[in-house]
Amino acid sequence: MQREFLLVANWKMQLTYKQSVTLARMYAHSFGEIPFVLCPSFESLSAIKHELAKTKIALGAQDVSAHTVGAYTGQVAATSLKEIGCSYCIVGHSERRRYNHEADTIVAQKVEQLLMAGITPIICVGETAEQRESGQTQEVVRSQLAPLLSILNQQSAASIYIAYEPIWAIGSGEQPAVEYVMSVIAAISAYVKASAGQWKMHVLYGGSVTADTMAEFKAIQGLGGLLIGGASIDFQKFKKIVSLRT
Ligand code: PGA
Repeated sequence: MQREFLLVANWKMQLTYKQSVTLARMYAHSFGEIPFVLCPSFESLSAIKHELAKTKIALGAQDVSAHTVGAYTGQVAATSLKEIGCSYCIVGHSERRRYNHEADTIVAQKVEQLLMAGITPIICVGETAEQRESGQTQEVVRSQLAPLLSILNQQSAASIYIAYEPIWAIGSGEQPAVEYVMSVIAAISAYVKASAGQWKMHVLYGGSVTADTMAEFKAIQGLGGLLIGGASIDFQKFKKIVSLRT
């Protein structure tokens, strides 16, 4: 049986609305038969859902509100994302933690909203360069996940993805050694399984992934896929990446 290996394209705020729809159309025409998750920014989700209609590409959002409904200017509810056709949503990306001061408890509330709406969360965790240097990586990742575990215990079991993204590796061209990634994956799996073992959990890696480094990551036992930023907005680079998926 073929191993499930999830590729998630995180377009961040790199493209305008028109550029996003154009690139999504190119992806749909060129490799729409390959399953992966495309996460454009909010304003283009609806139009891109339309472009992806006859493809195997799934739609994902990059964030969601921690609230169900109400006076939350500028926020987007999980139920709206579901209505648009999102089946995945990234939460707790380090850029949101950094620029929007998102705490671990808020990230956990967002996960709760997604699970209630029937959307699969992709929860990002990862350490800074200083935390890595002082040997705190596993402790940092565990503390980022801690508020989530009580929420998972209250929800019925489904699938979740945890994306391990060392902050120092995002957009920098730097990458951790395979053994290092393996040790963090093992720590995440053991931690989540101990408290919320009924969940089907997959760990992804993200941070400067390219077509050249993909094989190395794909060989990591227990790795459920990759979260790709920069290389996912370049048609040729991403085409190569998806062609290497199987
Ligand atoms: P990158 O981004 O591939 O450009 O490093 C990954 C991410 O931030 O999800």
